[in-house]
Amino acid sequence: MPHVKVKPFDTDTIEMHLEKDERFVFRALSQKNSDELLGLYYEGNAFVLQIKKREDAYLIKPDSISRPLDVNKIKRALALLTETLNLVVLHSNIAFSVNKPSLAENANKKIKDFEAPQFTREEIAIEVGFGSGRHLLHQAKKNPEVLFIGIEIHTPSAQQVLKQIALQGIDNIWIVNYDARLLLEMMPSNSCNDIYVHFPVPWDKKPHRRVIGTSFIQESMRVLSVDGRLELRTDSDQYYRYALETFSAYPKIHFHVEKNSDIAVTSKYEDRWRAQEKDIYTVTVVCMEHSEGKVMDYDFTFDRQKNREVTAEICTLKTAVHEHFFIHFEECFVMKEKKGMLVRISFGSFDRPEQKYLFVTQHDISYYPQNPVKTETNYRAHQQIGEFIYG
Ligand SMILES: C[S@@+](CC[C@H](N)C(=O)[O-])C[C@H]1O[C@@H](n2cnc3c(N)ncnc32)[C@H](O)[C@@H]1O
Repeated sequence: MPHVKVKPFDTDTIEMHLEKDERFVFRALSQKNSDELLGLYYEGNAFVLQIKKREDAYLIKPDSISRPLDVNKIKRALALLTETLNLVVLHSNIAFSVNKPSLAENANKKIKDFEAPQFTREEIAIEVGFGSGRHLLHQAKKNPEVLFIGIEIHTPSAQQVLKQIALQGIDNIWIVNYDARLLLEMMPSNSCNDIYVHFPVPWDKKPHRRVIGTSFIQESMRVLSVDGRLELRTDSDQYYRYALETFSAYPKIHFHVEKNSDIAVTSKYEDRWRAQEKDIYTVTVVCMEHSEGKVMDYDFTFDRQKNREVTAEICTLKTAVHEHFFIHFEECFVMKEKKGMLVRISFGSFDRPEQKYLFVTQHDISYYPQNPVKTETNYRAHQQIGEFIYG
């Protein structure tokens, strides 16, 4: 990850830039140690840099909650910062390589883009956990009339495929670097013709982390149009049996199984399993029913009517565990002259938690850098957060 190590400097000098440079949004000091946060608005992205102070050097790096996928953007932001603040750089990895291809900007989608998606094709297919992207790229080139939405939780894989999309000039792929289970909840009903899940991680010891589960199949059937297909390929006997059990428990479902069937393009994983002569199972589930539209009018604003002062007590809140969700107040950062606070929190469902900052000023609170994903669980956690704060 891009970072710079600089000679210790007077971080109070940042305050001056907050007043005159709109790219500098806030500076907040940890209540736990000497760390600081610096909020930037740069090239269309709101994100946070952490300043970690050590005696001999300060380390400046993006935080994991808000960092943009495009590492070159982070490098440019760090370069801007060191230049603007006149910092003495002791070590950095922000040099640009002219040979490195850039990421396909138009293909790089955020979870927020799915609140009111403007799909660029009528036909849509989804690939969950595309890894190296071999299957996704092949399908997109073969079917230019279809929009392929690739969802991958592993950031370097998403970055690699975005580079390939730019290099090969492909215009019918969207890449989302997120948990596929959450993204499916955001997709409109009956919108999709195919969902591919090839060689998901079996997670035999941590089954709650499996992509396929009851709510995944429920959401897939809602998102697929009638006759649309969900295709699972796996080399794992245990996962195969688990998937059959999960699918069988779902009412009004039709599926069939093939063993060692060929497909047009094999992935790296598939090549490996074939070389080891492992059996490969393909389970195809066909959607039989039209689904109702999904209304997602969850409101993540806090109740301004209460108009009560939010005090530093918010920094003393810790953890609350409910049946379907949890809320964990992690760390509190305070702005100069107590103009406001940033509280880092994680919350939501146990297997797909959200991480955000609460941006707190005297009479207003909002999520930073943006609202949580519009799921029911997040909304219930949000209501509880409001109650904790306002009582
Ligand atoms: C074993 S690899 C298979 C990759 C590819 N489909 C193939 O056949 O080569 C599983 C992939 O799923 C991704 N993954 C795991 N859980 C995910 C989730 N909840 N949402 C999106 N991607 C996920 C992993 O990062 C990994 O790239």
